[in-house]
Amino acid sequence: MIDQSDLKAQLTALLADEEDWIANCAQFSAFVFQFFSGLNWDGFYFKHGVQLKLGPFQGKVACNPIALGMGVCGKAATTGKAIRVKDVHDFPGHIACDPVSHSEMVLPLAVQGKVLGVFDLDSPQRNRFTQKDQSLLTDLLEILIEKTDFKPSGLL
Ligand code: SME
Repeated sequence: MIDQSDLKAQLTALLADEEDWIANCAQFSAFVFQFFSGLNWDGFYFKHGVQLKLGPFQGKVACNPIALGMGVCGKAATTGKAIRVKDVHDFPGHIACDPVSHSEMVLPLAVQGKVLGVFDLDSPQRNRFTQKDQSLLTDLLEILIEKTDFKPSGLL
């Protein structure tokens, strides 16, 4: 596992010459999947009216759409707050896309104060995600937001 500041520098370099939101979100999900151990899925869901719709991701096919407020993703998107779930079986209303997933972390994607969607990570390990992972992922999402023009998405 490479050092955290290297990871931030690598992501900054990866996104340096591109501002397209689909390209950058796709690269971001692949980057995280490549450099974080123990993941079986990661990716974006974006807000469309009262639903979340699947965005760029890595892993097996996933649940789509998700109603806002439902599951871990729908809750994080509604509250605008990150959620870490040690054991998905203990989270009431958790939506099981892959029965192998055991723990989950969902971070809001907030651009100019508006929650556009979420970035979701799943792991087959119990209690995979730490506070340290959460703050590193928050910093990486900040880099994505800085480098990307989300206006053409129509989500802003
Ligand atoms: N488990 C999520 C659904 C999305 S998948 O994990 C890819 C949830 O409860 O919102």
